[in-house]
Amino acid sequence: MKITVIYGTQRKSKSSTYNIAQQFIKCLSNGDSVSEFFLPKDMPKFCSGCWNCFTDSTKCPHYDYLKPITDAMDEAELLIFTAPVYVYHVPGQVKAFLDHFGYRWMPHQPNKNMFRKRALLISTAAGAGTKSTLRDLEDSMMFWGVARTYTFSKHVRAADWDTVDIKLKSKIQNDVKKLSNKIISESHNFTPSLKVKALFYAMKYMQIRFHYNSADVEYWKEHGWLGKEKPW
Ligand SMILES: Cc1cc2nc3c(=O)[nH]c(=O)nc-3n(C[C@H](O)[C@H](O)[C@H](O)COP(=O)(O)O)c2cc1C
Repeated sequence: MKITVIYGTQRKSKSSTYNIAQQFIKCLSNGDSVSEFFLPKDMPKFCSGCWNCFTDSTKCPHYDYLKPITDAMDEAELLIFTAPVYVYHVPGQVKAFLDHFGYRWMPHQPNKNMFRKRALLISTAAGAGTKSTLRDLEDSMMFWGVARTYTFSKHVRAADWDTVDIKLKSKIQNDVKKLSNKIISESHNFTPSLKVKALFYAMKYMQIRFHYNSADVEYWKEHGWLGKEKPW
């Protein structure tokens, strides 16, 4: 399975989320290419709020950082995001990264490839907060139109992977295998979830009825989505 991974931090061997992601990659990649990006190193900028992307995404002032990551995401079959819980939410650099894809949200210009793609979101916390952290990522996956999203969260009761209890590590390994098997078994003939489909039809109605942004309406028209065409 062709995979693109966006790591929420630059920690590697000491990081629980990184080590869990490595276990998933081992189970899922099956020798296919894995593209990896680390935040904030590979996208160190905050959205400047210029709105350029809503009419032309190549005009984003941070386009040179975004292009290789966007290309890799568009080519992948599976997207993996990792995010340790920082004060109940994703680390700031993950939010800054997601902000740059506002133009790809369904009310605007969703990328067609996303509707045939799946995502795996991985979060760890010392003790609490993975639900709200995963929600930060799940919102973007749904509004990007990602067909299926899987989540994996663990409360590791530790600051570093080295100090995670050995029994918990073994449980994590088993749970990674279980979810990997599910992801593999669902690799064929999947369509977007009901939520994603419903959102698409609601946004189609909105484009036809309200014409908020002419660039968005034009984009939907070009893809035939205001008629009978669907992105999946
Ligand atoms: C700035 C910061 C904020 C954190 N906030 C929380 C929190 O709200 N809840 C929690 O349970 N753990 C919190 N933690 C602990 C981490 O989420 C936890 O140790 C996680 O497993 C670290 O992931 P990593 O090993 O991949 O870096 C925080 C850690 C840091 C550095």
